[in-house]
Amino acid sequence: MPDQPMDRMTVPSLMARKASGPRIVCLTAYDFPSAKILDEAGVDLILVGDSLGMAVLGYETTVPVTMDEMIHHTKAVTRAVKRALVVGDMPYFSFHLSADETIRNASRFLKEAGAAAVKIEGASKRRLRLVEAMAEAEIPVMGHVGLTPQSIHSLGQYRVKGMGAEEASNIVEGARNLEKAGAFAVVLESMPREVAKIVTESVGIPTIGIGAGPACDGQVLVFHDFLGYSAGYLPKFVRKYADLYGTISRAVGEYAADVRGGRFPDDSTSYHLKPGTEAAFGGRASGTGGGGQTGRKGGKGRAK
Ligand code: KIV
Repeated sequence: MPDQPMDRMTVPSLMARKASGPRIVCLTAYDFPSAKILDEAGVDLILVGDSLGMAVLGYETTVPVTMDEMIHHTKAVTRAVKRALVVGDMPYFSFHLSADETIRNASRFLKEAGAAAVKIEGASKRRLRLVEAMAEAEIPVMGHVGLTPQSIHSLGQYRVKGMGAEEASNIVEGARNLEKAGAFAVVLESMPREVAKIVTESVGIPTIGIGAGPACDGQVLVFHDFLGYSAGYLPKFVRKYADLYGTISRAVGEYAADVRGGRFPDDSTSYHLKPGTEAAFGGRASGTGGGGQTGRKGGKGRAK
């Protein structure tokens, strides 16, 4: 058996947190550097969400996101992660045609992209059968109830789900059925905290909340939202822990002013010829940048 680092998060260790705590810390990530930061900071669960489409790719909804886009970004994330459990999100229409196609698509997250599990939105009877089929194919599945953003065109708008009794009991029943079908955890998105509490108390699998209040077994936020890296509207449930949009805008402004004002690059950010070399070729530039170290040498592909 291959060695696992002692505290590597696995599906069973994540499930055990329901009883033992501590609460599960989850964030989304879509690329190597951000996944590395989250993993090194001790995030337990990294979701390569199809929010990729809106946060990174500039789509208006998550609907256009493709399997190939999800696999490409999940690969970048898993290359960076040593400890966290990585879950890949099944995009719209990757699980809508047949059980066979669903399993084939889900297996790509494990076989090609190195994820440990997949997430699928919804808890209709058909979805439950797909969860069963994936679990039977040894693909750990995370469910997702409440607001399911892939349903945006039938919903008409993103809104809090479960405000009324009927919708609330559908959410509770959906989560219970997902557990019965073999899901190892369930995301609860945009619902009254009271409903999320009832769900959390009535299932034996961990609940991961986003806009679902404090009673859940864990919490997830979208990377770009919690770091203030997105320009647009933020839902009420987001707490911003940084202002990356402002920080990056200010940095770009300073860089542009320095370039335009001739302050960048300066001597400390320029290469120099070896002493005496200039005289040897009559002071003409060699066209290679000088300094004896040109191009991509040293320091991981960068001239020092
Ligand atoms: O796509 C995503 O990032 C998600 C989370 C918001 C749960 O589904």
